[in-house]
Amino acid sequence: MNRVLAHTGATYPIIQAPMGWIARTQLASAVSRAGGLGIIETSSGETENCQAEIRQMAALGLPFGVNLPIRFLKDDAMLRFVCESGVKFVTTSAGSPAKFIAPLKSAGITVYHAVPTVDAAMKCVDAGIDGLVVEGAEGGGFKNPEEVSTLVLLQAIRARTNVPMIAAGGICDGRGMAAAFALGAEAIQMGTRFVCCAESPVHENYKQAIVNARETGTFMLNKKSTPCIRALKSERTTAIHEAGVMSFDDMKGIRGVYFGGDMEAAPALAGQSAGLIDSVKTAKQIIDDTVAEFFAISQRMGAMAQANSF
Ligand SMILES: Cc1cc2nc3c(=O)[nH]c(=O)nc-3n(C[C@H](O)[C@H](O)[C@H](O)COP(=O)(O)O)c2cc1C
Repeated sequence: MNRVLAHTGATYPIIQAPMGWIARTQLASAVSRAGGLGIIETSSGETENCQAEIRQMAALGLPFGVNLPIRFLKDDAMLRFVCESGVKFVTTSAGSPAKFIAPLKSAGITVYHAVPTVDAAMKCVDAGIDGLVVEGAEGGGFKNPEEVSTLVLLQAIRARTNVPMIAAGGICDGRGMAAAFALGAEAIQMGTRFVCCAESPVHENYKQAIVNARETGTFMLNKKSTPCIRALKSERTTAIHEAGVMSFDDMKGIRGVYFGGDMEAAPALAGQSAGLIDSVKTAKQIIDDTVAEFFAISQRMGAMAQANSF
């Protein structure tokens, strides 16, 4: 059996990315109901709200996961809560997971860590991680300035280790999923695609900005400092791009983007896959279309192998 399905309990190896304020029960439950795996975020730093979301999601009896963005956790309250709340699957990100692996695993939780390079991947493997979220530079959100693409990263990591890989960054459909599986992934994680989902709680303007964006419609910002992010082109991000620097203060208006629809309130995180997304769909449509396209492509490739002909 596919190891990611065994670890998560999902029907399809399609995971909704953790995303601050966005990845909460409304979106995660729609994804899990459609057979994918919803993930609840904790990167918003709203400890009590996130704990309530985790309780609400757990009460639905659907498979789900929780993300712990290590560098952004104020203390170990969220880690302790997750260990005690019956959560079965956690992804860690933004920092070294070394100290998180033992407590999570002794609580019976499977742990995957998000990595942007081979070195980071190998450190996690040495620390006893169960699997990796392999995140290429095409994706939206906080990024590693080294900018390794998902295409190269999956191959480079698979050449060094056999742990299960979830591919993330630049994937929004069955074509991307088939490519990721060809490179050794056993699941995909989609962020930008699920921002632009009917059940996503964000303002219509943000969804439409993703629909309208081309493949050239994002900037990788602040490569020489932190936070390095990929976000949609806008007047504000063009100014940051030209200045070459930004600080965490520039992200302060993010809720104005997400829920007020003011696309200039802060950089609107999104990946290059925005150029492949041309409509808002329900979580079920996204997952059904992705699975159907994945199998159609796999069938075509299988026929080539069987006929020993291209
Ligand atoms: C709006 C947004 C917020 C994100 N927030 C987080 C986060 O809180 N934690 C995290 O590990 N990754 C975060 N990411 C990265 C995603 O987990 C995922 O790896 C990435 O979106 C995949 O690339 P894609 O956008 O091309 O699908 C975020 C991405 C987006 C678009």
